[in-house]
Amino acid sequence: MSAKVLIIDDEELFREDLATLLESEGFRCRTAADGESGLELARQEAPDVVLTDLMMPGISGLEVVHRLAELSPESAVIVITAFGSLDTAVDAFRKGAADYLLKPVVPEDLFAKIRRIQEMRRLEREVHYLRRAVAEAGPGIRLVGSSPAMSRVRELIERIAEAPSPVLILGDTGTGKEVVARSIHHRGKGDRAPFVAVNCAALPRELAESELFGHARGAFTGAVRDKPGVFEIAAGGTLFLDEIGEMPLDLQPKLLRAIEEQRVTRVGGVRPVDTPVRIIAATNRDLGKMVDDGTFRRDLYFRIRVVEIVLPPLRQRREDVPELVDHLLRRLCLRLKRKVRAVEPAAMRVLMAADWPGNVRELENVLERALILADGDTLRLEHLPAEFRRSDDPDRASDDLRAAVRAYEAHHIQQVLEAAGGNREEAARRLGIDPSTLYRRLKELELQPPARGDD
Ligand SMILES: Nc1ncnc2c1ncn2[C@@H]1O[C@H](COP(=O)(O)OP(=O)(O)OP(=O)(O)O)[C@@H](O)[C@H]1O
Ligand SMILES: [Mg+2]
Repeated sequence: MSAKVLIIDDEELFREDLATLLESEGFRCRTAADGESGLELARQEAPDVVLTDLMMPGISGLEVVHRLAELSPESAVIVITAFGSLDTAVDAFRKGAADYLLKPVVPEDLFAKIRRIQEMRRLEREVHYLRRAVAEAGPGIRLVGSSPAMSRVRELIERIAEAPSPVLILGDTGTGKEVVARSIHHRGKGDRAPFVAVNCAALPRELAESELFGHARGAFTGAVRDKPGVFEIAAGGTLFLDEIGEMPLDLQPKLLRAIEEQRVTRVGGVRPVDTPVRIIAATNRDLGKMVDDGTFRRDLYFRIRVVEIVLPPLRQRREDVPELVDHLLRRLCLRLKRKVRAVEPAAMRVLMAADWPGNVRELENVLERALILADGDTLRLEHLPAEFRRSDDPDRASDDLRAAVRAYEAHHIQQVLEAAGGNREEAARRLGIDPSTLYRRLKELELQPPARGDD
């Protein structure tokens, strides 16, 4: 599609010559003799590019630039200025002009500038589209769960979303660290700012520095052209450093400097580039211990944990399970084109009682498998993997009181055992029963006592 160009100039001959020239290149043109009628045309036709003279009787070119920003924000403005009035061109840039052109106009220059604007517009649309697609395909931004722990996390996100301070998210695998990161970005910066995720564990060793900070052409063999790093790409938005615990030790001082100075110099580059980014880091490692062991730098650790968010494992917030199941089922149904909405109570009890070493991601995988097996609109116990079915008694009617009490008892005992670090004597004491009673109940309820060393 050829670009629609509007020419605003009081000199008739210049205006018509320019229009003929552009039309001969395949652009579509409209012309206006003054600012007022130019703005009216722009409002009606939303041209891709507006070429406006700066010196005109009536409203000035500067005023045209200013008013176009509101009237037709999609239009890019190129101001045409006589040699020697560059100051005004600078003012025009401040008011939002995209480019300027010196009189006399060199046709090739003009064509190149219009094409460049067209290409930029196309890329903007593409980036916007890709960002949406990525956000939809990724873990999402909606943080589900009303347990006290998750409610606190949500409150914290609310409070810190707009601050520039770094955030460190801690939690076991699959607890939702990336969801939290995306949710912070979404609340604070919105969809238009970039969210760039880097998996530090996957950074290729020799190229890690260039991935982070970019490189200049010729900086090393294979650097055939200038390339921005993730800091530059994320400028104005969020840089998510996932698995920060795997960041190579020798790169950590450079990373710290980039975070503190908010600018980077490309490998082999000469001038630093400003990179205002918000840093969100995540890990399932014990960074404090790594600092003590000397495998993670203390100064970097302190810098990134200005705000710390800890996501507890799912088994410590089992009350979140029904909400998560509902949320994940909806998402999975969309993806797998299924219509399962309901979950049989017995199946839900089993899901709530499970230990979920892989946390929410594991729950999601189990639901996906179950959905494939489910034929009707209800997810039943028999759709769950065998190891899950064992913890509920399938012979009993699902709403049976004794079954419910039994499931609750199993769940409660498991939690207390876990809190007692797997020590059964201690767990029995906390439960107010004999150790021998506990042993018997464990057996009857078919509960696996957690592994422990000192038994
Ligand atoms: N509270 C939550 N609300 C909604 N979805 C969640 C929640 N927690 C986790 N999920 C979902 O579980 C899956 C795993 O979450 P995520 O990728 O954020 O985990 P993670 O902590 O980054 O895991 P890992 O350490 O393995 O990278 C995703 O599909 C995500 O959408
Ligand atoms: Mg993750």
